[in-house]
Amino acid sequence: MTDFYAVIGNPIAHSKSPWIHAEFSRQTGQDMQYEAILAPVDAFAATVAVFRERGGKGMNVTVPFKLEACKISRRLTRRADVAQAVNTLVFSADGILGDNTDGAGLVRDIMINLEFPLAGKRILLMGAGGAARGVVLPLLEHSPSVLTIANRTKQKAHLLQQQFSRYGNIVSGDYADLGGEKFDLVINATSASLKGRVPPLPAGIFADESMAYDMMYGDGRTPFLQFAKQQGASRLTDGIGMLVEQAAESFFLWRGIRPETDRVIRGLRNL
Ligand code: ATR
Repeated sequence: MTDFYAVIGNPIAHSKSPWIHAEFSRQTGQDMQYEAILAPVDAFAATVAVFRERGGKGMNVTVPFKLEACKISRRLTRRADVAQAVNTLVFSADGILGDNTDGAGLVRDIMINLEFPLAGKRILLMGAGGAARGVVLPLLEHSPSVLTIANRTKQKAHLLQQQFSRYGNIVSGDYADLGGEKFDLVINATSASLKGRVPPLPAGIFADESMAYDMMYGDGRTPFLQFAKQQGASRLTDGIGMLVEQAAESFFLWRGIRPETDRVIRGLRNL
């Protein structure tokens, strides 16, 4: 019998998740269908309930519903609870389980696909909104020497530092506080790229052999990656790999099979 899954968000028309999961199910021979569902901003829970009643087995959740998805989950995994954001719902007779695979997807892309170890590295995470919150713990779990969180609104960076400081060495501040420091990995988790903007980074922050990682994607040339190239970052990566890896983690939760991601990442880049 075919099992039904979906990604839910608003907007949703440009989501690449249906394409990615169609590739995963073809590759693994799973009998499943995956669609994109547009939920009215004030009717997330009702839209999820309708999909569940139709026999849906699970969903991915995207902007702007990740916090609400936490609230409708009967149980949360530790990583979803810590992030207070859910991107994957698993439906069962017991109710809804909420998980967050974003951070695991980012770390897998960086460490496995890009072969960039995190242990001992100086990491700069830009942003302190929902996207940043979801990746702090998974990054700290790989023992960087320091995780610096920089945000336009300094107070939000301080709050993240307070929340996560027991898991590792965190420093927080705004962009002006960064003067003189160098980083091995700079991750953009802000929404500035959406408006064609780059956070106001000082010059000279990229160490030798450093990587710039934009959690946004868009033909590999986001405003942040263009800036990073001018500033001498050695490696430039957009968020396509993270997108595919977080999807693979969700697929594994639902189906118990880990799909191969290499070819899917390459396929998506060539679309
Ligand atoms: P998301 O869920 O995508 O993280 P969000 O919670 O609205 O969305 O957070 C957006 C993040 O991008 C915030 O860290 C925001 O900084 P502020 O907290 O100061 O608002 C950051 N951001 C958005 N536009 C930015 C810009 N032009 N320059 C720097 N940071 C920006």
